[in-house]
Amino acid sequence: MSMKTFKSWRWSPRKKPVLSDGGPHGAHGFRMRQLSFMAFVCIATMFIVYRTTSYQHQQTEIDAERHPFDNTQNLRTLELDNLPQGVIQARSDLELKPLWSHSRPKVDDSSSHNLLAIAAGIRQKQNVDSIVQKFLAENFTIMLFHYDGNMNSWWNLEWSNKAIHVVAQNQTKWWFAKRFLHPDVVSIYDYIFLWDEDLGVQHFHPGRYLEIVKSERFEISQPALDPNSTEIHHRITIRKKTKRFHRRIYDYRGFTKCTRSSMGPPCTGWVEGMAPVFSRSAWRCTWHLIQNDLVHGWGLDMKLGYCAQGDRTKRVGIIDSEYVVHQGIQTLGGSSAKKASKSEDSTKVKQKRSGVDTRVEIRRQSTSELKVFKERWEKAVTEDSSWVDPYSRNSWFNLFSKTRKTRSKRSW
Ligand SMILES: *[C@@H]1O[C@H](CO)[C@@H](O)[C@H](O)[C@H]1NC(C)=O
Ligand SMILES: *[C@@H]1O[C@H](CO)[C@@H](O)[C@H](O)[C@H]1NC(C)=O
Ligand SMILES: *[C@@H]1O[C@H](CO)[C@@H](O)[C@H](O)[C@H]1NC(C)=O
Repeated sequence: MSMKTFKSWRWSPRKKPVLSDGGPHGAHGFRMRQLSFMAFVCIATMFIVYRTTSYQHQQTEIDAERHPFDNTQNLRTLELDNLPQGVIQARSDLELKPLWSHSRPKVDDSSSHNLLAIAAGIRQKQNVDSIVQKFLAENFTIMLFHYDGNMNSWWNLEWSNKAIHVVAQNQTKWWFAKRFLHPDVVSIYDYIFLWDEDLGVQHFHPGRYLEIVKSERFEISQPALDPNSTEIHHRITIRKKTKRFHRRIYDYRGFTKCTRSSMGPPCTGWVEGMAPVFSRSAWRCTWHLIQNDLVHGWGLDMKLGYCAQGDRTKRVGIIDSEYVVHQGIQTLGGSSAKKASKSEDSTKVKQKRSGVDTRVEIRRQSTSELKVFKERWEKAVTEDSSWVDPYSRNSWFNLFSKTRKTRSKRSW
């Protein structure tokens, strides 16, 4: 709207001389008055239209918050034309429903909903059980992605029939998340925990974790890793004993120095792939960032800060008081393939079949996917002329003018 207003402002003064040159001398004054009256009406109309639209826009946003399943804005598509608006439900959830209505007490719609999704193999059944127990106590919705195809051995856990089970052989956590956690399907959940199965949760409480996340307004977060974890890839994720949470690390030695002025990974604005927690909006963005073909998710973590819905140095955090132990067991579902070639000990999943070392192959694949992802990002940056890196030092002020409209205005 504001673009249009701007264009017509420029357009009208040019038009004026053309008209008045052509007209006979006597009519000139009248024409001018007529013209300025027209211009006035024009501007006034535009102002009214602008105000109405922005009011409507606000109203729609408020409505959308009240009725999360109403998504009438995007529904003006051809495919849906023959359906009456009111019957359309554009979004869904993962809540189990009773087969008949009086069989279960009504679920309180106003209470908050959160989702735990874990890529799980039967080898980690016991650990996944202890994770799920903790989250169920906080009324989380549970979803398991069975990447080993082994589903039947889970039924004897008493919570198993409350969980959603998805089975697809040899698929990764990111593959599942892209296919089964579409933002429109998980839009009722305030927070989405997309976790690996090899996390020790003795010192983790989901409720207290979320209290911190909410009070600090973290859009993307993860629990800190116990320093005795067998797998720690980056210093920023290590637990700081004396803190409740941290947003950055300081490191004055070494190649990458982390100082107060550091603006991004590995010093700040970063979580890793093994235990990320997303807000609804951050997940919507992240889902779009996950590439369909790059299933190992390498390099994704470095870009997650772009989904932080604002300044990544503030909206991304590591929670220290609720922390986990990362056991670093290499599995398909997890992000631990990173260290696959280094940790060769017997607890690791050994799969040497038909002469193929799975770990070596996965590592090779992950490395090449990382390369592709970087190239794809660079290409997208080059091709999108309206995109301005909100985190590049020259344009730090863009953090405060986020929308694309604002961006395109800057290129006049
Ligand atoms: C979980 O849900 C039950 C039943 O609705 C409720 O009584 C309980 O307080 C909830 N617990 C938490 C931690 O929200
Ligand atoms: C999955 O991977 C395992 C181990 O590499 C292999 O034995 C099995 O055949 C694979 N399953 C499918 C469906 O590809
Ligand atoms: C790490 O330390 C915690 C206590 O902080 C303990 O519960 C856990 O078993 C330890 N894990 C390992 C792998 O040593």
